[in-house]
Amino acid sequence: MNSRDRQTVSNILGRRSIRRFEERPVEKEKVSLILECAFAAPSAGNARPTHVVVVDERSILNGLAEALPYGKMLSKAPLAFVVCADPSGSDIARQYWEEDCAAAMENILLAVHALGLGGVWLGVHHAPERVHAVRNLLKIPDDVEVLGIAATGYPAEKKDPHGGIPEGKIHVNRW
Ligand SMILES: Cc1cc2nc3c(=O)[nH]c(=O)nc-3n(C[C@H](O)[C@H](O)[C@H](O)COP(=O)(O)O)c2cc1C
Repeated sequence: MNSRDRQTVSNILGRRSIRRFEERPVEKEKVSLILECAFAAPSAGNARPTHVVVVDERSILNGLAEALPYGKMLSKAPLAFVVCADPSGSDIARQYWEEDCAAAMENILLAVHALGLGGVWLGVHHAPERVHAVRNLLKIPDDVEVLGIAATGYPAEKKDPHGGIPEGKIHVNRW
């Protein structure tokens, strides 16, 4: 295994949900690299329905924090990536947009961690009232889906990496 591969693996293992942030903006170059990583995710049939709304306006971040019961940390986060999908392009996009967006979201969180930032995935899609609130705040069209939000910033907390494989969850050849 070369060192690049090892770095990738330790980045995956070291990622944790970070919910406390420094009062410090994230550099534009980092934002751009994170977005490039988001759009490098796999997509069913290469349909690529994913869109991302980048939010760095304090009033909108505060509005999102108010709207999301488990997203209060957005009132302190300098940045959020709102992962959406326009599934109108094809049947395959309509069928798979959730998986596509989830892959993009994970790429965002891994890129965030690799760049010395911290982030946390905030679920939106499965709570219609949250989708409604996010749509209103960000002027997202009705036919565009909202998967979730990655609250992001320089971390003001540290967490130990996950380690090991959970007992009883690996099945070899047959369950
Ligand atoms: C689909 C999804 C929705 C989540 N929604 C929230 C949320 O609304 N608020 C929050 O603080 N964390 C949320 N999380 C983060 C989880 O709480 C977190 O991943 C879990 O506690 C494990 O911690 P870790 O990410 O540090 O490994 C969500 C994670 C996923 C995958």
